[in-house]
Amino acid sequence: MRILGIESSCDETAVAVLECSGERDFKILSNEVASQIQVHARYGGVVPEIASRAHCETITNLVKTALNNASVNPKELDAVAVTAFPGLIGALLVGVNFAKGFAYQNNLPLYAVDHIKGHIASNYLTNDLRPPFIAFVASGGHTSIILVEDYRKHTVIGGTRDDAMGEAFDKIARVMGMPYPGGAAMDKLSYEGKNPVKFPSAAIKDDTLDFSFSGIKTAALNYINSSNQKGEEFNKADIAAGFTKAAVESVIVKLGEAFKRYPNIKTIALAGGVAANSHLRNALVEFSKKHKLKLFMPELKYCGDNGAMIAAAGYFEYLSGEKAELNLNAEASRFEE
Ligand code: KG4
Ligand code: ZN
Repeated sequence: MRILGIESSCDETAVAVLECSGERDFKILSNEVASQIQVHARYGGVVPEIASRAHCETITNLVKTALNNASVNPKELDAVAVTAFPGLIGALLVGVNFAKGFAYQNNLPLYAVDHIKGHIASNYLTNDLRPPFIAFVASGGHTSIILVEDYRKHTVIGGTRDDAMGEAFDKIARVMGMPYPGGAAMDKLSYEGKNPVKFPSAAIKDDTLDFSFSGIKTAALNYINSSNQKGEEFNKADIAAGFTKAAVESVIVKLGEAFKRYPNIKTIALAGGVAANSHLRNALVEFSKKHKLKLFMPELKYCGDNGAMIAAAGYFEYLSGEKAELNLNAEASRFEE
């Protein structure tokens, strides 16, 4: 069967056609992403109203392109899957309303997808990942440790109490004058940092699996501001290296705790935009070796928001038979268990 996957929760309009069979055999027929990064870069971050408008302008043609590139016409589709939560409400509404109209017009069943489940499903596109496993999902808006017992049974066992990991990368990069979003540039720059600045851990020192990225972010911003006030040059690469080191080590601490709590789980998966971070990927390779875990990481091109991951997560909704109705609404902060 073929699913049209639509994603518009933040600053990427994305549409894919995915051929699905069996338990989770996927073939990507097309995967189009229209990034709004250029539009938001001048403001140093995503402007929600501008994001919604850009999705409106892009979505119709992007769906056409995705269908053309897949050599599929709407009659050859079997379902429509759309990100319905969580995300920027105006942005989500564009995808949800388009998907509803498209599903109605073409008499197709509609499935609502949780964006975070979509990120986790990016692993299913090219990896042989199968539940149960523990996933670490980090993006510009989310940072969670998730116990995945089945394709649709996800339990959040830890997460950030304030800023997301990607958001912290982006904010520090911005203060250092780097263009939005700065995560990937910070990753590159960190290799030039010979004397990493010491930053506090983002792992909260209690018995939860939670993080606080605002503390570590503020420490980095204070370091930069006080250097500026003293008229001292700060070394951007040392800050990038120090921040990355502290952030990645914090993740490893809490993942270590998570696997202690769930000793029967022997598989770990990474997902989300920050899953592209080379230090995080390397640290997880070490971590999984040390704890004798099977490690799965999405291919770099599927770490960021894309339609194929939404279609893949939509396939499990399709298998479950839980269709969305045409009164489906977007929800900014819902996370489906
Ligand atoms: O998943 P995503 O594309 O969108 C959201 O759902 O938020 O994630 C985007 C985030 C941004 O914060 C971006 O800076 C970060 O992922 N990111 C990285 C890297 N590549 C992207 N952060 C650290 N290192 C990277 N290599
Ligand atoms: Zn995302």
